[in-house]
Amino acid sequence: MTGNLAIHADGLRKSYPGPGGEAEAVRGLGLSVAKGEFFGLLGPNGAGKSTTIGMLTTMVRPTAGRAEVCGLDVAADAVAVKRRIGVVAQDNTLDIELTVAENLEFRGRYFGLGRRDARARARDLLTLFGLFDRARARVFELSGGQLKRVMIARALVHRPDVLFLDEPTAGLDPRSRLHLWDVLRGLQAKGQTILLTTHHMEEAETLCDRLAVIDQGRVLACDSVRALRETVGAETVVTVVYEGGAFDLAAVRAMARADRVEATDGQVRVFAGDPDGVLSDLVALAAKAGLTVVDASQLAPSLETVFLTLTGREFRE
Ligand SMILES: Nc1ncnc2c1ncn2[C@@H]1O[C@H](COP(=O)(O)OP(=O)(O)OP(=O)(O)O)[C@@H](O)[C@H]1O
Ligand SMILES: [Mg+2]
Repeated sequence: MTGNLAIHADGLRKSYPGPGGEAEAVRGLGLSVAKGEFFGLLGPNGAGKSTTIGMLTTMVRPTAGRAEVCGLDVAADAVAVKRRIGVVAQDNTLDIELTVAENLEFRGRYFGLGRRDARARARDLLTLFGLFDRARARVFELSGGQLKRVMIARALVHRPDVLFLDEPTAGLDPRSRLHLWDVLRGLQAKGQTILLTTHHMEEAETLCDRLAVIDQGRVLACDSVRALRETVGAETVVTVVYEGGAFDLAAVRAMARADRVEATDGQVRVFAGDPDGVLSDLVALAAKAGLTVVDASQLAPSLETVFLTLTGREFRE
């Protein structure tokens, strides 16, 4: 039953032909988003976020699998899907020849609004987004934060059921980012279903009811931030980088508080449910073995450590 779902995807795949054969950008991805939900796709560069949004918004044809938006098949009913969704792409897609208001009005006309209605809708949206005084500005005169707000406003002209945002705050300064978060929370409070992609952990934590952590085209985990922390068993991650020999891994593994130990050349990492004293014990072990500790860090349980636990790799912006 997908009747109450805004988005449902199952087994989605996308391969691109490449020099070394087919490159799989998305490898069997499934997700469900309820109506009214604020859902996040969190993943590092190249995880397949934009490709996934592309398939859900009918812009990219899936190689396999299927997806429905508002109960409509994205491949078979693409035209109908387009009328029910608003899409804010990763790059600026505004018409730079037009003013801010014209960008919105033309979109309204495209979706069948009369001239007067399109103008009224543009005015309302620009007011809502704090951009009314920029209505006559040309797009190239706007700041990055204003550009994004205009793009979101334009995506909402035809009152879409689902709003898709691909990394809406990438490249924005912290103040603009906070402002945009307020805007998005306000939209959700009015009932807007939103799917956003981000590689900004704090953004995912702050905004999203649930998120799918994706990496290399697959969903690694999907839940609320709190449940992810609990079910993935996000632990404190203690990392020591060292030089001058090899760590006594048996001794590290024997540490009572080390639930999981990972070692690569020159680095040892301990996942610990109870982190008390782990860092100092590791430093002491290094000293005993005559090693030089060149870096040491301790990450409290967070989405960052969830990602580390799931992939064994660090999540870098
Ligand atoms: N049109 C394309 N042709 C070939 N390969 C592509 C194409 N689009 C994406 N890819 C590849 O597919 C993979 C996933 O890309 P995608 O853009 O979906 O990732 P992303 O999660 O959006 O990354 P980013 O955070 O950098 O925006 C990458 O390896 C990328 O190089
Ligand atoms: Mg992308």
